[in-house]
Amino acid sequence: MQSEIRKKLLDAFSNAGDTFLSGQYLAELIGCSRTAVWKHMEELRKEGFTLEAVRNKGYRIIKTPETIIADEIRLGLLTNFIGKNIHYEESVESTQKIAHFLSNEGVPEGTVVIAEEQLSGKGRMNRSWHSPKYSGIWMSLILRPNIPLTKAPQLTLLTAVAIVQAIEEVTKLEPEIKWPNDILLNGKKMTGILTELQAESDRIHSVIIGMGINVNQKLEDFPVELHSTATSLSIEKGSTISRAELIKSIFKHFEKLYLLYLDEGFFPIKLLWEGYAISIGKNLKARTLTNVIEGIALGITEDGVLKLEDKTGFIHHIYSADIEI
Ligand code: BTN
Repeated sequence: MQSEIRKKLLDAFSNAGDTFLSGQYLAELIGCSRTAVWKHMEELRKEGFTLEAVRNKGYRIIKTPETIIADEIRLGLLTNFIGKNIHYEESVESTQKIAHFLSNEGVPEGTVVIAEEQLSGKGRMNRSWHSPKYSGIWMSLILRPNIPLTKAPQLTLLTAVAIVQAIEEVTKLEPEIKWPNDILLNGKKMTGILTELQAESDRIHSVIIGMGINVNQKLEDFPVELHSTATSLSIEKGSTISRAELIKSIFKHFEKLYLLYLDEGFFPIKLLWEGYAISIGKNLKARTLTNVIEGIALGITEDGVLKLEDKTGFIHHIYSADIEI
């Protein structure tokens, strides 16, 4: 929908309060047919507006979508640098792309890019990430840790712990982590993490951590092929969750864990991660780009690499794979 039409419609509804506006009135207002008005209203519905359409009366807006208001996040934010600088966008291709750009511009560590919608959200292993408007948390965090390149995957595991702690705090649900970075509820994926690096030889310029959290989607908001494997917090909880509250809590837990990590290394994070992991001690199938390895997950190494013991007793070190439990 053209932004001019959108604005005219929303202004009209905002002035009308609870009063219905007829299709004829709206058609005249924006200079189009009544069928076109109906299409525009359907678009608003898809964006998250709750509408009422009554024959012979017209339309009214009952509820506007919950937008993430950057000021709402800043208010009461308990961190010193994570999320202090928020770059908020309504619609982007991918927050990762913007974070890479901002990182090159030299923005401070802890800067976060948040978008209401991603048109081509990126997942791991060149997959796409479904990121519909107003219903999830799609954000990328810029870090500049002074650590060797090989240690960067540890930050993915640290992020998973921070997100689990925040979800527990805000929703009282108890998510689990599937190595390396999927967060599940009742066996279905609800969060994915994508870590990308900007580095030169062994020096890290920045680590961009992309987090995709399904918060308020209903089952029908997911593509059909994801119905049996994906879920959202509100599906599991049975109520709407404030994305701003959850984001604030993630920032708080992340900063605490990150400072601990920079101070004491990965060991304390590893212990926490293992406490939330479902895969440890279980028989798994790891699908790497070239191979399928089956075995018992023994745990993770100091670098966050998965150790899988096959039936011959050989211990494989898995750096990147899809896991079937
Ligand atoms: C996965 O495949 O499990 C990782 C998904 C990561 C998705 C997030 S959403 C915010 C950020 N921007 C992207 O394009 N991808 C990540």
